[in-house]
Amino acid sequence: MAIHPYFERREESDGQLADEVDLAIRGGLEYASHVATRIGLSAVPAPDLNGKAILEIGPGLNLGCVLICHALGARVAVVDKYLVRWNEDYHPRFYAMLAEQAAARIPSGDFSAIAAIGADPDRLLELVECESSDVGSRTAFADGQFDATVSNAALEHIADVDGMLAELARVTRPEGVGIHQVDFRDHSHNDRPLDFLTIPDETYAEVFEASNGGGGNRVRAGELADRFRAQGFTVEEIESNLLADADYVESVRPQLLPRWRDLPLEELRRIGARLYVRKTEAISRDQRRLLSPTHDAGHCWIVSLPDLAHLGDCDRESRSPLVLLEDGAPLGPGHTLHDDIRELGSGRYSHWGPNLYFSTSDNSNPLANGRRYEIVNLDRDTTTRT
Ligand SMILES: C[S@@+](CC[C@H](N)C(=O)[O-])C[C@H]1O[C@@H](n2cnc3c(N)ncnc32)[C@H](O)[C@@H]1O
Repeated sequence: MAIHPYFERREESDGQLADEVDLAIRGGLEYASHVATRIGLSAVPAPDLNGKAILEIGPGLNLGCVLICHALGARVAVVDKYLVRWNEDYHPRFYAMLAEQAAARIPSGDFSAIAAIGADPDRLLELVECESSDVGSRTAFADGQFDATVSNAALEHIADVDGMLAELARVTRPEGVGIHQVDFRDHSHNDRPLDFLTIPDETYAEVFEASNGGGGNRVRAGELADRFRAQGFTVEEIESNLLADADYVESVRPQLLPRWRDLPLEELRRIGARLYVRKTEAISRDQRRLLSPTHDAGHCWIVSLPDLAHLGDCDRESRSPLVLLEDGAPLGPGHTLHDDIRELGSGRYSHWGPNLYFSTSDNSNPLANGRRYEIVNLDRDTTTRT
């Protein structure tokens, strides 16, 4: 049997095992208390997840984090494209130590089932529903099956971000939550975390593919939040917990690809963040309005939206709540200068007074490229419909 890539990179030692157990207990407790707090359950003295169902995306080397949630009452599942295989030199020792140490640290949990895993992987499968697949496509989980989805350092590795978010929307129950810690850095240069944003798309697509997504999909925090919204989630909080050095950001800014070059400093600095989202409602077809553009100049196309003029930007004030979708995925940045839309394009747009000025992601002709262009009003108190 081939050695899983995670084990190739792992340094075997008792200290390493103890660190991994400690990480799983802390990570599992963090998942459990965030989930409990967000869905209105008690998290003190320890989270109580009785009767709740949690899905973890990309658990990695072991299933320790979700097992902690299981011991606190939850039904748990994982999905991982490279689901780790049972390793008899590692997993029995890991789960035995996890049960022992977690029991000592979390008196309210029931860790007997973890202790009983022993050397039998089937016992693990009785506790955790495991799916080995790409979460960017449809999984076998039922619609609305989960109260919460959670992940740590996983979403940045998914190639089809919108496919993944649509899948999370499908399997999360209405008002269910998502808690996702994302690492937005260039994974091959943690000390120069934005360098990968300078690489042309075609070259980077090859790098991403060759590393099985290991280098990161380059999506920024604000864009990920917009894409969550476009799938019917409300973004309740973006907790920035790792920031790039401001001088480094300004020094690399001129070399960034155009779609990132003009982002605000605070957005570019955000290289680690936890997103707290809630599935509020799916943005149904009738909340989207299909656009019929005409050519303005350069890369710019224009659509007249007279009934939404009151929502448009004016006098340098950025306030329009409209998001432009290309085949269901948000374009951007919005609120940009019209000359930049004409000259640079690449998805820039502006809802200005009664008009929407926009460009397509690759500056192709929206009347001929076969894609759907729609607007969605993210301000739920107003409507995009006439
Ligand atoms: C950096 S590891 C993080 C592992 C673990 N969550 C942790 O914090 O140590 C990324 C995880 O995402 C998984 N992954 C990568 N692409 C995926 C995909 N398309 N669908 C599901 N999981 C994926 C990897 O196999 C891996 O388990």
